[in-house]
Amino acid sequence: MKEKVVVSIGGSVLVPGRDDTAYIRGLADMIGEVSDEVQAVVVCGGGKIARYYTETGGELGGSTFQLDMLGIGATRLNAQLLAVALGGLSSTDVPLTAEEAAERSAPHNVVVMGGTVPGHTTDAVAAMAARALGAARVVNATSVDAVYSDDPRKDPSAKRFSRMTIDELGSVVYKEHGAGRSSVFDPLGIKIAKEEGIDILIVDGRNLPELRNAMLGKGIEGTYVSSR
Ligand code: UTP
Repeated sequence: MKEKVVVSIGGSVLVPGRDDTAYIRGLADMIGEVSDEVQAVVVCGGGKIARYYTETGGELGGSTFQLDMLGIGATRLNAQLLAVALGGLSSTDVPLTAEEAAERSAPHNVVVMGGTVPGHTTDAVAAMAARALGAARVVNATSVDAVYSDDPRKDPSAKRFSRMTIDELGSVVYKEHGAGRSSVFDPLGIKIAKEEGIDILIVDGRNLPELRNAMLGKGIEGTYVSSR
């Protein structure tokens, strides 16, 4: 039986607005290749597109619920774009819930999806999908190369973690939230991963060999967050 893996890929990684076509082509080819060995579900974030809609919707007086729904729409649009690149391996008719994603996942396909319901981010959806699927790990393909104790751009002495426990990740994220920054992983996703014993691998999503290693459970340069 193939190992099951869920990838949470940030919108800022998938469609930063530069080299998007070349990156998505390379990503889809890599996923196609590793899908010989692992059964993958890929959850896409909204990035700039989500931000554009939520900010414009906010200026127009949208409620929090409405803005979240706009964000979810953007994540699903990004998921459809990746599904186009995956061709016959995936479907552009993206599942709407984590449970539906797990039901549709099979050894011969790659399920691609975006958000589900208002109130969390796609990192939390990835943890929910991993729980529904019985996956051993969630790979967070993000725009930083590892977890740091502080923002390394502001504090050059910030500690870089190659390995940490899920409780340690929780404290870093809590600190980040306190400072009002966007978090390296959604706190709800961390809670689910801890409860379910799911490991989280934080890797630079633009580095495809690194992302490939994470999907295959090989050594990574990023941070390995162990759930137990
Ligand atoms: P993202 O998952 O892209 O959030 O969803 P983010 O915080 O911008 O993620 P990073 O920084 O790329 O990791 C975009 C927005 O869509 C809504 C939320 O408003 C979120 O901020 N959303 C997404 C939901 O309400 N529910 C979901 O399941 C997913």
